[in-house]
Amino acid sequence: MQNCLNTRVQKEFRQKSSFLAELRALYSSGDPSKWPKPILDPDAVPYFSEIGHLPEVSFPEDNPYSADKALLGKTLFFDPRLSRSNQIACASCHDPELGWGDNRTFSFGHDRQLGIRNAMTIMNSAYAKPLFWDGRASSLEEQSHMPIQDEREMGEHIDIATGKIAKINGYGILFEKAFGDKTVTKDRIAKAIATFERTIKSGTAKFDLFISGKADAYSDDELMGLHLFRTKAQCMNCHNSGYFSNNRFENVGTALLGETGEDLGRYLVTKKPEDAGKFRVPGLREAARTGPWMHNGSMTSLTEVIQFYSKGNPEYAQKRSTVHEGITLNSEKSTFVRLLDLTDQEISQLEAFLRTLTTKTERVVPPALPK
Ligand code: HEC
Ligand code: HEC
Repeated sequence: MQNCLNTRVQKEFRQKSSFLAELRALYSSGDPSKWPKPILDPDAVPYFSEIGHLPEVSFPEDNPYSADKALLGKTLFFDPRLSRSNQIACASCHDPELGWGDNRTFSFGHDRQLGIRNAMTIMNSAYAKPLFWDGRASSLEEQSHMPIQDEREMGEHIDIATGKIAKINGYGILFEKAFGDKTVTKDRIAKAIATFERTIKSGTAKFDLFISGKADAYSDDELMGLHLFRTKAQCMNCHNSGYFSNNRFENVGTALLGETGEDLGRYLVTKKPEDAGKFRVPGLREAARTGPWMHNGSMTSLTEVIQFYSKGNPEYAQKRSTVHEGITLNSEKSTFVRLLDLTDQEISQLEAFLRTLTTKTERVVPPALPK
């Protein structure tokens, strides 16, 4: 009897380890066409591209890359003189040591007022389109003026901010190197900041090493997490491509309609009722260091995020409807989110995988501010 049981256990063990060995060989083969097929919803297929390395950043034709422009942009990004109080820089809320975010539920800005959304990282924002949780900015250039003017953020009129920069002599040479002459305009400020942001891209993560052939880079749990992400957990219906987002707007049941903290998300931009409660699918590279998570920072651990998906993104009945400007709006959750019933082990494997998409914190030396 004992012998017989032992043989069975050994057989199961052998089967499991040969399954893992096979998965490991396929995923680390360096050839994604050999990977097991993903489990996708038919409606997700048109917006799907396989996960993988981040592609090269492309710079727009009317704002090509130059090292001088990126340096000017970096200097402006760290310069609090763009704000009304001369105290708040972009880097106050997008701090390189905090994954270029601020690790707060809501950021505080001008006069220490709290914002209403969680600060996104600017890492890999070159791949995000459109920008913001609700997509209200169509390019990084356009986006860059918004926090300067936002009353709760930097609280300064863009023309006044531009005038202040123009009066700082030391900026002349930086603008000249970047644009050919010393003229400071709001358009040039936008172009320089956007160029700098496009250079803030994740380096090689453990995931990249593993899929390009370093078979022993992953533990068994990380490997299983990758496989679950592409199959049973169906995360790739939305989080796909090298950026781990299809850049679409989806409702995953986080909008709290009719409750304190209600956020209509994409609806505020499009005014289409079906967009109520939709947010841009965020990329997941670096996600492990940009908590708390979701547009409202409501989730304080990755485990909590994955448990929420596992339960099929439950929304309380009383939080699914609201009246906004006389219009009744309902939260229509994406049909891609459904009960997954993941085991505790699967949840921790998914989390282990997500952590392999994160790179080490780099210490960035803030540039000297021109006088
Ligand atoms: C007071 C804090 C604060 C300051 C200052 C601030 N931001 Fe942000 N940033 C945020 C928040 C919060 C969001 C998300 C807002 C939303 O989606 O509605 C955000 C979003 C962004 C995004 C969008 C990223 C994406 O993936 O869509 C970019 C890019 C960005 N900020 C760049 C900047 C730049 C450039 C500056 C300076 C000119 C700046 N921020 C200043 C808090 C701040
Ligand atoms: C229907 C599309 C969809 C699916 C499927 C999906 N997500 Fe998301 N995910 C989103 C959206 C949209 C958000 C942002 C929601 C918000 O801000 O309220 C998000 C947010 C997240 C965040 C937080 C990121 C941040 O920076 O705050 C993580 C982590 C995450 N998802 C992981 C997963 C995992 C793991 C799976 C699979 C179990 C998954 N997602 C499945 C659309 C999806």
